[in-house]
Amino acid sequence: MPTVDDVPARLLLGSGPSPVPERILTALAHPTVGHLDPAFGALQDDVAALLRATMRTSNKVTFPLSATGSGGMQAMVDTLIAPGERVVVGVHGAFGGRMADALGRAGADVVKVEAEWGRALDRDALISAAADPSTRALFVVHGETSTGVAQPLDGLADAIHAHDGLFLVDCVTSLAGHPLDLDAAGVDAAFSGTQKCLNVPPGLAPFTVGDRGLTRLQRRSWYFDLQAMVDYWFADGPRAYHHTAPINMIYALHEGLRIVEEEGLEARWARHARAHEALRSAFSVLGFERFAPDGEQLHSLLAVSVPEGIDEAAVRGALLREDGIEVSGGLGPFAGRAWRIGVMGAGANPEPQERLVRATAQKLSRPPGDEQAAVRALEEGWAA
Ligand SMILES: Cc1ncc(COP(=O)(O)O)c(C=O)c1O
Repeated sequence: MPTVDDVPARLLLGSGPSPVPERILTALAHPTVGHLDPAFGALQDDVAALLRATMRTSNKVTFPLSATGSGGMQAMVDTLIAPGERVVVGVHGAFGGRMADALGRAGADVVKVEAEWGRALDRDALISAAADPSTRALFVVHGETSTGVAQPLDGLADAIHAHDGLFLVDCVTSLAGHPLDLDAAGVDAAFSGTQKCLNVPPGLAPFTVGDRGLTRLQRRSWYFDLQAMVDYWFADGPRAYHHTAPINMIYALHEGLRIVEEEGLEARWARHARAHEALRSAFSVLGFERFAPDGEQLHSLLAVSVPEGIDEAAVRGALLREDGIEVSGGLGPFAGRAWRIGVMGAGANPEPQERLVRATAQKLSRPPGDEQAAVRALEEGWAA
């Protein structure tokens, strides 16, 4: 019978989960306490404060939902959108498509604004769709993990706020890796995930909602009843039980957020930008070219085309089996022709990147000169 010891350690450089530092694993293993224990309550308050700082928001209701990133998306749909409401959804990859699907299933009147895979959405197209006064919300994915594209958020909020609609954002892959200031961008609600740039295992969805959203609260969903969660996370008196909080995951998130605070958010963003460009140069030497044009790249995820004639799945499989390194393949139209390489938190560092670059060059049977040139490009990128 297998045990966890049969599952090998991996270097996680795919689309997520990302490498989990020892400090976070240690926090995860800390003795479990009760979800109403006052000592745990003090930690919850600190998690909320650290999350606000990381998301750059002053929203009181900022906390981790007990769900993965998709649960954050579902909570946004179930709590902020009523059936029949017109919602404009930016679709420039798989995750915008998922939101359109979730909203459609919830009975919203979904209006898609689309861009080709590998490009950002056209701001004017989003603005003109959102400007229709019947539009109750505008949703975009800030960091599209399927394409490695970052969607600029500036200039969008006014179009939807003009008629009191909500500006909603998925920041699963961008949070703590790519520059993001939710309050400055006028975002009313956003969800994220723990397994990307925070380097915490998957299982929680950091979530925030401001006053405009709170006036629109829907209570259709029993599990995603935001009011019940507010009564647990932000009660003036005793915290009210709704569901048993995943205590140890919250320990882990606390440690992950402390690491972000110690590094400094802006220094962390700068490190991700440098790591992204360094890895991009190294992979370019090996014939892999980034899809996103300059200025549209998501720092935390490098999506590159695989050179002609290479069986990308076979090479990825060999990297995992023989080198213990995970990278991700393409989704949708990118399937079979793209690699998606995570540049996330602890993974956005020279040592793990060099391991990947060397192993890839060897798997492709490139001459040693190519491997050296790719490593040199990586080093120069880091020195820049
Ligand atoms: C941009 C984006 N949104 C949503 C999700 C869904 O998150 P999860 O897989 O944690 O449910 C992901 C996961 O990769 C993502 O990258």
